[in-house]
Amino acid sequence: MLVEKNVPLQAFNTLHIVAKAHALVRIDREEDVRELLADPQWGAAPKLVWGGGSNIVLTGDVRQLVLKVGIKGIRMVAETAKAYLVEAGAGENWHDFVEWTLDHGFPGLENLALIPGTVGASPVQNVGAYGVELQDRFDSLDAIDLQSGQVFTLNAAQCAFGYRDSVFKHGAIVPGAAPQGLGLKDRALIVRVRFALPKVWKPVLGYADIEKKMAEQACSEPTARQIFDWVCAIRRTKLPDPAVIGNVGSFFKNPTVTPEQCADIIARDPRVVYYRLDNGSFKLAAGWLIDACGWRGKSVGQAGVYEKQALVLVNRGQGVDGDGATGGEVMTLARAIQTSVYERFGIVLEPEPVIV
Ligand code: EPU
Repeated sequence: MLVEKNVPLQAFNTLHIVAKAHALVRIDREEDVRELLADPQWGAAPKLVWGGGSNIVLTGDVRQLVLKVGIKGIRMVAETAKAYLVEAGAGENWHDFVEWTLDHGFPGLENLALIPGTVGASPVQNVGAYGVELQDRFDSLDAIDLQSGQVFTLNAAQCAFGYRDSVFKHGAIVPGAAPQGLGLKDRALIVRVRFALPKVWKPVLGYADIEKKMAEQACSEPTARQIFDWVCAIRRTKLPDPAVIGNVGSFFKNPTVTPEQCADIIARDPRVVYYRLDNGSFKLAAGWLIDACGWRGKSVGQAGVYEKQALVLVNRGQGVDGDGATGGEVMTLARAIQTSVYERFGIVLEPEPVIV
């Protein structure tokens, strides 16, 4: 087992923040975890599981032992009456995996094309886009307990998926500390994930941007490949490519409000963008709220609000030779946005990425 010391992390996080891991271990096989746990020096060290670094904001060097997951492999493992079960290693690139499923005749993930990050990170925040969330296609996952080394399997209910949320984002109950819930944050490493891709495929088309593509191309019955191409095109026009401009996608969650709160906000500004949810509450477009407060294109140091989508914070530097944004600048900008949205609309925006 090789423990690398003082490892630069800017190439491993899509915001390209300059920071170091005091120590880093690459996990390319399940056995690497067991070997690590048996190590007298590192086995009990606090650990941080690292996927594609596409949903993390570094505010300084990482003191925990970073476990950089590179477990590979994609295969069709079983089929049920209704679905093909396709399994992917946690270290597989998410978008490459989506393409693999389409190339092999298993549609169902096309709306989730071009989401940065790895397969292992996808259940952590229950990734979602254009009317599909990971939980809609999820079957189960295998993970390793980072204390006992035991491998265990979780189904969707056990993952406790919510909007950009799961059991992996919440800490465990620590005796004497404030309860955080029965979570698995920093307790488990996801090894592989299985998806149930429907044998009878139906396109998910309800989202406005997709409907616009259908109208533009006069196509009422698109194939999965067409939807995949449209989603890629839509994302490329709205969202910055992290390889070119550092970012972590949406920086805040879209807030959910009661009908009364929604009415109050409409009274403050009737142009507000909102959607009615099945449970009667309303979801507000956080990007619109931030935009309405005049933040689009603004900066704090080298941290900025993306010109084409105010929900995305970007690193205006390259993250080389210290010329990029610091995590502190990103968080200062984020807090300033939260304050102004709260003052104008009475809404508290909740950050979406993990802040380390
Ligand atoms: N809007 C503005 N100004 C802005 C940004 C947005 O007025 O600067 C308005 C748009 O015109 C639109 C509405 O806000 O009417 C919603 O914007 P958009 O369609 O771009 O979607 P979103 O709600 O901002 C969410 C997800 C994205 C996902 C898209 C498509 C969250 C936090 N974000 O964004 O997910 O790709 O919908 O489904 O739920 C991510 O999580 O990292 C992510 C990119």
